[in-house]
Amino acid sequence: MTSEFQHLIDLSDYSVSWWQKVVELGEEIKNDPEKFAHECDGKIMATLFYEPSTRTQMSFQTAMIRLGGQIIGFDNPANSSVSKGETIKDTTKIVSNYADILVIRHPLAGSAKVASLTADCCVINAGDGGHLHPTQTLTDLLTLKIEKKTLSGLTIGMCGDLINGRTVHSLCKALSVFSDNKFVFISTPELGMPAYIKDIITANGSTFTEVNTLEEAIGELDVLYMTRIQQERFASVEEYLAQKNTYVLDRKKMQLAKKDMIVLHPLPRVDEITVDVDSDPRAMYFTQAKYGVYVRMALIMTMLREKKSSETLRGKIYKNVRCDNPRCITNHEEYLPKSFRTAGGTLLECEYCDERKLI
Ligand code: CP
Repeated sequence: MTSEFQHLIDLSDYSVSWWQKVVELGEEIKNDPEKFAHECDGKIMATLFYEPSTRTQMSFQTAMIRLGGQIIGFDNPANSSVSKGETIKDTTKIVSNYADILVIRHPLAGSAKVASLTADCCVINAGDGGHLHPTQTLTDLLTLKIEKKTLSGLTIGMCGDLINGRTVHSLCKALSVFSDNKFVFISTPELGMPAYIKDIITANGSTFTEVNTLEEAIGELDVLYMTRIQQERFASVEEYLAQKNTYVLDRKKMQLAKKDMIVLHPLPRVDEITVDVDSDPRAMYFTQAKYGVYVRMALIMTMLREKKSSETLRGKIYKNVRCDNPRCITNHEEYLPKSFRTAGGTLLECEYCDERKLI
């Protein structure tokens, strides 16, 4: 399958200099948004949100409107023909003929990849299950660039639901390519960072450590990235309740942190940061959400300016091999070719969700 449009499914598909250009443009827009008010006159963006969202959906919509464009889409698939059984392939094919750019969020990993295989316009991944969230990462990079003045030499703590947190997966992949970054993963063993992300960090030359408590790590951090325990991704309520409230950042713990540490969170917050931390000048999560509009403006402009011809499925198609991830789109939409990359020896990696399996 081929495409003549540029898509953003995974930031790793682009060079570091490309991300930096998007982030730099985001900063330029932040400093003078009016200058960009007609960049997308006459353009239409479709937002297909199969899963709830406040920030990503509305910041994309705000971004397009601030660039002079218009928006269509749904935020509840029950109100679309998805409720009649329409596949993701058909929905995205149709909508891509109505819009110049399609932004998709879906609860299944690999769903944005599927959209990019069939759409006749640019596709942006706005979060595919527990897999990736590249535009949150661009938001995080812009926030670090503005608030820490660097993307290198940082000690970054990531705390909470690291197994299901697509934002931390994307951010680790991105920050590990910059020099001298160190990661500290703060989680329970059940919610630990997936092995494939740790392998990427090591392959990129960065280092990581793993600890169980916030108290033992917070004092060494330049950045603390808190995450929500994602109830919707647990197999049972009991498993969720066993993890709930394990990590709570409060004023007392903030006293152990450096004076210039910043606290980020992709939001929404449930109870992992107490509200009294909000007034601490190091609490940067609301500012971070605001910066999301500027970086998404930059991304929309970049995607619509650049066109490239690229093959989007590059793995080997297997007829009798299935992905082991029950939350992979290929296990829900049967028509999809089961495409895997070889990851060394008899190890295969699903091209949609990156889950590995031995054959
Ligand atoms: N950060 C983030 O993705 O928030 P929403 O789920 O509200 O879009």
